[in-house]
Amino acid sequence: MKIVRSIHELRDQLRGQNRTAFVPTMGNLHEGHFSLMRLASQHGDPVVASIFVNRLQFGPNEDFDKYPRTLQHDIEKLQEENVYVLFAPTERDLYPQPQEYRVDPPQDLGGILEGEFRPGFFQGVCTVVMKLMSCVQPRVAVFGKKDYQQLMIVRQMCNQFALPTEVVAAETVRDTDGLALSSRNRFLSAAERAEAPMLARTLNRVRGAVLAGNRDLASIEKEALDSLVQRGWKPDYVVVRRRSNLLLPDLAGTDVPLVVLAAARLGTTRLIDNLEI
Ligand code: PAJ
Repeated sequence: MKIVRSIHELRDQLRGQNRTAFVPTMGNLHEGHFSLMRLASQHGDPVVASIFVNRLQFGPNEDFDKYPRTLQHDIEKLQEENVYVLFAPTERDLYPQPQEYRVDPPQDLGGILEGEFRPGFFQGVCTVVMKLMSCVQPRVAVFGKKDYQQLMIVRQMCNQFALPTEVVAAETVRDTDGLALSSRNRFLSAAERAEAPMLARTLNRVRGAVLAGNRDLASIEKEALDSLVQRGWKPDYVVVRRRSNLLLPDLAGTDVPLVVLAAARLGTTRLIDNLEI
């Protein structure tokens, strides 16, 4: 695996490649990330991964400084994967001047759910993904369903800008107790870690209720929210939405594919998860 820091070195390494499969990450890699690398190798060659903690997508009171940076360990783990180039730019490499040109997703998709609770988050994500894609010029890029809204926004960005990159979705990798793997899980205390699978269990309960034919989504969502609050969580949202656009399902119409999405704080750690119904 070649490890490159600058955009210039990256371009040198990838010259002439036209089937590159790309997996952008912020590092502190876990099995969820590695599953993306493996899926990428089924869709293209060479596989390029990136590790960059992107300041633009963190709010002023968020955990940019605290975000786990474990580059040496990540490199060791990545050597075991089929990754040809690791692009690990410093901030000066990727943002040599302040990044004044930004990519703003539309409000109806970028301003809801995560975008409502983390203003500017998707602008930061879109801007860095656009820039990383412009550096790597991949034919395929793999994103996890764990960040369902991010996956949809990036996919639509690629479509609307006619980027030559196909966005491939990877399933969420979970621990044996159901907790979705996340770099932020390491912030959980032992007691919080024991409680954390309750988020996925709550999503499963919502899914079960909808599949059983209950169409009173507002009550289902409220029950899920209340049960988390009772257990000491501070939920931002637990909602059932259309898979196609994350808007409210019109239940008068025919059945449409749905997804239940949630974000909730356990102590100071904010966890997100979702489940297709
Ligand atoms: P990061 O949180 O490091 O995630 C990188 C990729 O791994 C994303 O596509 C995410 O959805 C996926 N992922 C994370 N946990 C997963 C899990 N348990 N199962 C499957 N996939 C999982 O998402 C970002 O970084 C950033 O926003 C980024 C896109 C790199 C832009 O900065």
